[in-house]
Amino acid sequence: MSNSLIVLDDPEIANLYSLNLNIFLGLDVLIKKNVYEAIALLNLIKSADVIITREKLGNENAYEQIKEWLQQNDIEIPIILLDRENKEGEETHSLNSKNDIKKNIQEIANILGINLRDSSRKIFSEFYPVPLHYFDLIKKSFCQTFRRSSKAAIEDDAVYVKLFDANELVVREKIREFKKIGIKNLYILSSARSKFAHQFTMMILEQIEKEKNKDKRFRIFEGISRVMTHELLKYGMNVKVIKLTKAMVERIYDELNKERSIMKFLHFLNAETDYYLFQKSILTLMICYKIIDNMDWGTEEQKKKITYVGLYNDIVFDDEKLARITDDEELNNAILTDDEKDLVLNHAQIASGFLTKLPETPMGVEIIIKQHHGTHNGVGFKHPPHHDISPLAAVFMVAEEIAIPLLEKNVAIDTEEILYNIEEKYPNHNKFLQAIEAAKLMTR
Ligand SMILES: [Fe+2]
Repeated sequence: MSNSLIVLDDPEIANLYSLNLNIFLGLDVLIKKNVYEAIALLNLIKSADVIITREKLGNENAYEQIKEWLQQNDIEIPIILLDRENKEGEETHSLNSKNDIKKNIQEIANILGINLRDSSRKIFSEFYPVPLHYFDLIKKSFCQTFRRSSKAAIEDDAVYVKLFDANELVVREKIREFKKIGIKNLYILSSARSKFAHQFTMMILEQIEKEKNKDKRFRIFEGISRVMTHELLKYGMNVKVIKLTKAMVERIYDELNKERSIMKFLHFLNAETDYYLFQKSILTLMICYKIIDNMDWGTEEQKKKITYVGLYNDIVFDDEKLARITDDEELNNAILTDDEKDLVLNHAQIASGFLTKLPETPMGVEIIIKQHHGTHNGVGFKHPPHHDISPLAAVFMVAEEIAIPLLEKNVAIDTEEILYNIEEKYPNHNKFLQAIEAAKLMTR
């Protein structure tokens, strides 16, 4: 099931249906605000699994026009109308519960023959969770923000206490306190969700451009990398992630190109950041840049290309224990759920899938990321890696093998010793040996 189309002129209602259809029915939803735009889209995609609309949108007779288009194009797509009684002999589904979104979502699930994914959760919760770490990046709250009472065991009994009004300063001490006691989410009103998403993205993009202080800039990058993981895991590729990726690639390329000493940069990362997955990505990228600088074929374009690999290679992990697994033996010995094992096995392939959905990605990036554990298809780990993997994939793997012990041993380790160990591990792999030779020329 994919590409469900909502045609509604009320963005808040459209977003609420989209959100609930996505969460509870697993549908990918496209939203159009009028018939004209909906038909333009249908002319392009020629199919959808379901169209959800009203009989009339403003003065337009939405239902009749969409039905006419379907007949003219000889395409069958079920239409669900939110606002009228069923008419006898007609195949269109009309929902009787005009304003009851809970009943309507259940009914849409019945019509489409889909089981609700998580019926224990309350459909159309008035409050929408926002991960606490988003508030590390927010100075002023965009909308009313609430905290859920910790005493409530089930959603129906939950009490939401207002923390910040719209435009109120986000008090850092409060956020730190919440982190300490293990609070994972704050809440906003569901109706404010799209406004929040838009303003959050605009604010971060502005912060990245304007922040003069290097420490703060890197803390913003660190925050964004958490946000990107959360967004991709929860919603898949979306406009927010597309904009953030573009900004991150450009800014990180500029920042890392300025860095001279690996050891100084490592000290800086340890002092200013604490998110292991970010530290690993960023240190690996810096080492990649140094290796590429020392390669005959190295260009600035390749550094930009590998920046996408650095940002996305382990992006599906929000738990660092999963990212620490780098071979079959570690995977077999780890105590993980089946879902976690699947995620580890397939993470390179999933990341590659995300990159194919990203507009303007440099050619071949999705292949390099697929190969970042040595396989061709992005599934599992291959030691030694295939000989015909991309030279940039080999550079990335060598850089990561240098970065991990540097981070874990907290500086007290010699890069020459690390390089010697990698050389021993891949004695006959030309692409690895070339990358290692280039790495030996790095300034520490
Ligand atoms: Fe990985």
